Amino acid sequence: MDWVKSWQHSPITGVEPAAAAPAGIKDVRVLGGHFADFMLDYKFAIDEITTKINILREDFNNANEYNPIEHINSRLKSPESVLEKVRRKNYPMNLASIRENVLDIAGVRVICSFISDIAKIRDMLAGQEDITVLEERDYITNRKPNGYQSLHLIVSIPVFRAGHTVRVPVEIQIRTIAMDFWASLEHKIYYKYRGEVPPNLQAELTQAAEAATQLDEKMEALHRLVDHAGRHGERPDRSDSLDLSALYENLVTDR
Ligand code: GTP
Ligand code: MG
Repeated sequence: MDWVKSWQHSPITGVEPAAAAPAGIKDVRVLGGHFADFMLDYKFAIDEITTKINILREDFNNANEYNPIEHINSRLKSPESVLEKVRRKNYPMNLASIRENVLDIAGVRVICSFISDIAKIRDMLAGQEDITVLEERDYITNRKPNGYQSLHLIVSIPVFRAGHTVRVPVEIQIRTIAMDFWASLEHKIYYKYRGEVPPNLQAELTQAAEAATQLDEKMEALHRLVDHAGRHGERPDRSDSLDLSALYENLVTDR
């Protein structure tokens, strides 16, 4: 059953050392045979978060409002990757430790059209009663040195199982189409070069990240222009749309 659409590109977890023995049967045995059931918690948590996002999306459409959500991807880390991470990071090999330490077993990625949509979606999710934000990393304000941008949230959500309730962490990444395009390319390059991207290519990637930011800023300015005109019953005039960078400067200083 196709219950989890996998990431378009899987997350970076570092390049596994070639000599590392594969995590496997032995670790699963140590975990007392409950590992498959434990992983199911995360599958259900993904289901809950994606349902929440789909509800928001449908609600926007229903209200005939502009819909900030372009698309959603999700992925459940494979049992092998979970065990590999536990070993690599030297976490104790038991379920309680995995629950506490490995916070990206369930991943949901939300792609939006405009930079301003990111905070909107963040607030709409974080404001829900059953969601607790455990951690937030703003790689948009604090872009990574290679140019990576996204807003990362680690949230926890209750999952109501047949016999018990459990709070499960989910990593939510929120980014624009341009940021996603960049991250997907960078990911491919990173893997092609096994984490050792040549400096010239690295510089090109940083420049591409800058271009993605400029595109995002222009699109945001255009969006605001059209939105503002729409709300005032006007059509944006020709001069408005000619110099978006000047317009953007104005918007930034207006903030
Ligand atoms: P992990 O040990 O990989 O979980 O890293 P972390 O816990 O330090 O979290 P971080 O916020 O750095 O990264 C979490 C996820 O964000 C990764 O698994 C990727 O999906 C994504 N990510 C972070 N940095 C990059 C990057 O430089 N390029 C790309 N393409 N994705 C990134
Ligand atoms: Mg991670």
